[in-house]
Amino acid sequence: MEQYLEFSGIGKAFPGVRALDDISFRASSGSVLALIGENGAGKSTLLKIMSGDLQPDQGKMILNGEEVTFSSPLDAMKKGISVIYQERQLIPSLSVAENIFPGALPRNKFGLLDKKKLREDTKKIIDRFGLSINPDVPVGTLSVAHQQMVEIMKAYRRHSDVIAFDEPTAPLTDTEIDILFRFIKTLKDDGKIVLYVSHRLAEIFQITDEIVVMKDGKFVQTVRTAETNEQEIVKAMVGRDIGDTYASLSRNDKFGDVLLDVKNLSSPYVDNVSFQLHRGEIIGFAGLVGAGRSEVMRAIFGADPVLAGEFSFDGQPADFKSPKDAIDAGIALCPEDRKEQGLLLFRSIKDNVSAPVVDKLSSSIFRNPKLEEEIAQSAIDKFSIKTPNSEKICLELSGGNQQKVILGRWTSPLVDTKLLILDEPTKGIDVGTKQEIYQMVCDLAKQGYGVIFISSELTEVIGVSDTIIVMHNGHVTGRTTRDENPTEESILAMAMLD
Ligand SMILES: Nc1ncnc2c1ncn2[C@@H]1O[C@H](COP(=O)(O)OP(=O)(O)OP(=O)(O)O)[C@@H](O)[C@H]1O
Ligand SMILES: [Mg+2]
Repeated sequence: MEQYLEFSGIGKAFPGVRALDDISFRASSGSVLALIGENGAGKSTLLKIMSGDLQPDQGKMILNGEEVTFSSPLDAMKKGISVIYQERQLIPSLSVAENIFPGALPRNKFGLLDKKKLREDTKKIIDRFGLSINPDVPVGTLSVAHQQMVEIMKAYRRHSDVIAFDEPTAPLTDTEIDILFRFIKTLKDDGKIVLYVSHRLAEIFQITDEIVVMKDGKFVQTVRTAETNEQEIVKAMVGRDIGDTYASLSRNDKFGDVLLDVKNLSSPYVDNVSFQLHRGEIIGFAGLVGAGRSEVMRAIFGADPVLAGEFSFDGQPADFKSPKDAIDAGIALCPEDRKEQGLLLFRSIKDNVSAPVVDKLSSSIFRNPKLEEEIAQSAIDKFSIKTPNSEKICLELSGGNQQKVILGRWTSPLVDTKLLILDEPTKGIDVGTKQEIYQMVCDLAKQGYGVIFISSELTEVIGVSDTIIVMHNGHVTGRTTRDENPTEESILAMAMLD
């Protein structure tokens, strides 16, 4: 018998936002359903309602003909629903086995923990997914990808009928993504109902069977994945044709003098890296996850020690002892991990955008509320941050909108920057806004900024950069320029060199 989960007229409001408005659709077993929409469309909110973390204001959920209501995540779990969020919900100090069997640990006849059985039961599940993870190691010692696998196995162990993923591939490497997709296939073959949220359209077309498009909290349409294409989907999502993303960019065509001159730079993580960046130039860094791209930037930014080699910035030999020195010299680094390294989650958008200058002026009374408001508003407009106003605290923004706040901060006129380093700036950002970010990067180049653009999405590195530097294992393994018409294949080939 076909199993299904149906949403019927689901509504949810937060102060100032209608996050979900009359959402109705059905997800069926043995099928993977993609949930897509712009940043702030309401995807995560819907998953939180499914998982019992939030309660809907209107509407109902029907699981196999029976209406279900959840007052807590435990409730939803008992009914067979598991949601896998980007933020891990595991206990790092406990073993893989203990995480997979929380509260359900096998006991022996004396009521003691039956470690042997626990290990065996866990092993069975690990084997089912074709993995080689040791059931006894603490979860905290595993890679991000393997931790995610543990969460999926935990959901599997609970015999969940419904498993939903919220942007699961963002922290994963390509090989790990392959493993995840095999997992999802296994779940599907086992007749599970799978929901999948992602901004990466290529993935959607690779693993889903149907697509539900949402916009501004509303249901737009359901289509069979096999019967549509990227262009149609983007149009449904964004509400307009976005044309050829890269061809339509207005680029800078003349560079100034050398802004950053890196010679044979080595840090604990990278070796013998050399390149020159001119004012007005965009250099893209490509490579597999772990190739050393972010580490080069950390050395330049004064966050890691320079062990050998040297670099000059803005005509001066640079010797940054800390990121503060680098910032003072005019370098801004927009980091990959917005939560760990940048965003003040419990502060407003306005405070976050002004943060670098507020720090500088922290001991002074010269804050200018009117200017701060203006700057925050301009970031909200520039990146279409979805929020009722600039006072909203960042914790309450959707994932993609948090990323936009960080971009707003480092591109604000308050920051006196000459070099902007963007590390995975479009992570979790919807396709429509991505294009605005690419244009903004080109505009900054036109204004004479030097820009370093790091991304794992090769198409965007190729589409945006004037020069591309390819890294592997902490070394530069190739470089190419826009005139040479690089392709994904040619770059990947360089990214595999030693
Ligand atoms: N706890 C909250 N308090 C106030 N507003 C919230 C809260 N959670 C979400 N919102 C708002 O609800 C709307 C929908 O957010 P949601 O996180 O569901 O979007 P999303 O589709 O997942 O976007 P993204 O692709 O950026 O992750 C947004 O406007 C967001 O600011
Ligand atoms: Mg989200």
